[in-house]
Amino acid sequence: MDGNGRWAKLRGLPRSAGHKIGAKTFQKITRYCNQVGIKYLTVYAFSTENWARPKEEVDALMSLFREYLKDAHNFADENVKVQFIGDRSAFDDDIISLMEECEKESADFTGLHLNIALNYGGRDEIIHAAKTLYDDIASGKIKDKSEINKKLFSSYLYTSGQPDVDLIIRPSGEYRLSNFMIWQSAYAEYVFMDILWPDFTEKALDKALDEFAKRNRRFGGV
Ligand code: IPE
Ligand code: MG
Repeated sequence: MDGNGRWAKLRGLPRSAGHKIGAKTFQKITRYCNQVGIKYLTVYAFSTENWARPKEEVDALMSLFREYLKDAHNFADENVKVQFIGDRSAFDDDIISLMEECEKESADFTGLHLNIALNYGGRDEIIHAAKTLYDDIASGKIKDKSEINKKLFSSYLYTSGQPDVDLIIRPSGEYRLSNFMIWQSAYAEYVFMDILWPDFTEKALDKALDEFAKRNRRFGGV
């Protein structure tokens, strides 16, 4: 969800104003994905690198997370299952509790599976997986290195049990992955769009999905 800051700057507003509208866009697009039958959606809300931003901006983002999390139970009728991916231990205790509550309340929902990436980094995720795997080797749960394969390793990622990523949409005119789901997106299709996240619409998503439908996916075959 990129481009909030530039959206605000273009209007002479503080960056936090862009994040505020961006959060609204996030809710609109999530609802739409659920409506059109998308099974999994992951949004990159805060990266492991975003802590480096000015305190004022980080604080504004934390306030927005709190607001969203406190509101989340109001969306129960939407049937969206929420999961947070990333290292949540870095957040304030009240935010961690709200995240847990939100996951628990929506655990049995059968609509869209929404991953919200918070304090998430793809490299971090792989290291976290390797450490957990190490523990399972040390405890004897994994006995032989022949047991370690792609399927097993995937099960140690935050997205354990979820399918690989099909489509990555990067808005805001940047042509980078920025440490996003680097394992899961090995065969993903990329759609880069020249639209700032607060301006992102259902129509823009349709456009990306149309583009995706035209791609010829061969997964290394012919
Ligand atoms: C939102 O956009 C991404 C978040 C970390 C919430 P940015 O804040 O990266 O906006 P730009 O790239 O400065 O325009
Ligand atoms: Mg950015």
